[in-house]
Amino acid sequence: MKLYSVAIDGPSGAGKSTIARAAAKRFGFLYVDTGAIYRTVGLAAERAGVKKGDRDAVTALLPKLDISLGYGEDGVQRSFLNGEDVSEAIRTPEISSRASDVSAMPEVRACLLDMQRAMARKHSVIMDGRDIGSVVLPDADLKIFLTASAECRAERRRAELESRGISASFGWILSEMSRRDRQDSKRAAAPLTVAEGAVTVDTSSLSLDESIEAVCSLISEKLGVKPLEG
Ligand code: DC
Repeated sequence: MKLYSVAIDGPSGAGKSTIARAAAKRFGFLYVDTGAIYRTVGLAAERAGVKKGDRDAVTALLPKLDISLGYGEDGVQRSFLNGEDVSEAIRTPEISSRASDVSAMPEVRACLLDMQRAMARKHSVIMDGRDIGSVVLPDADLKIFLTASAECRAERRRAELESRGISASFGWILSEMSRRDRQDSKRAAAPLTVAEGAVTVDTSSLSLDESIEAVCSLISEKLGVKPLEG
């Protein structure tokens, strides 16, 4: 059976995970949230008391980490660190910042590369991240660069945090998000970039449903696949 791969890259808050998850469900593909893997390494570094930017300490930590992804019957991805389900613990603003820090380290990226590629060898995937179309799956059947204005992305992130009981001001989120975007785009190792051949989708003026439709139409057209029934 032919396996398909769709790479969705873009800055934080563009709606990648929500849209990718919905599209994966519609076509029966596996949704792989690669940001969650970097967040899990960030959480481990935080727990180990590693200073930010301490590459040697993070490199020394890597062999001690057993990171895995699991999928419930609902298709929702769970992240495990040494057997512990850390899916909620990795979703705090502190760990967002930690994830950006460790993801700039080439040792971390090299360590996680095989794990990501192995998933695409076994399943049809929609994988989201920053370097999926450029580095992880350069031969993906479809590459999408999903973006939106910084203000739009910050407001969506604020609302998402609020719905989980985490309150943060729009101004703080906007500046923190811009700092993280700069760090993710300027780093030497696999920076956030529009991959060659990628189709850009700007969701600034689209509702969530419209964004999902836009991405699903691209998948249907480029891959020649039909949504699952029902
Ligand atoms: O998508 P996210 O916010 O969960 O990602 C967390 C951090 O991990 C983000 O700052 C960028 C980094 N990341 C990366 O460098 N490469 C990926 N493929 C996915 C995420």
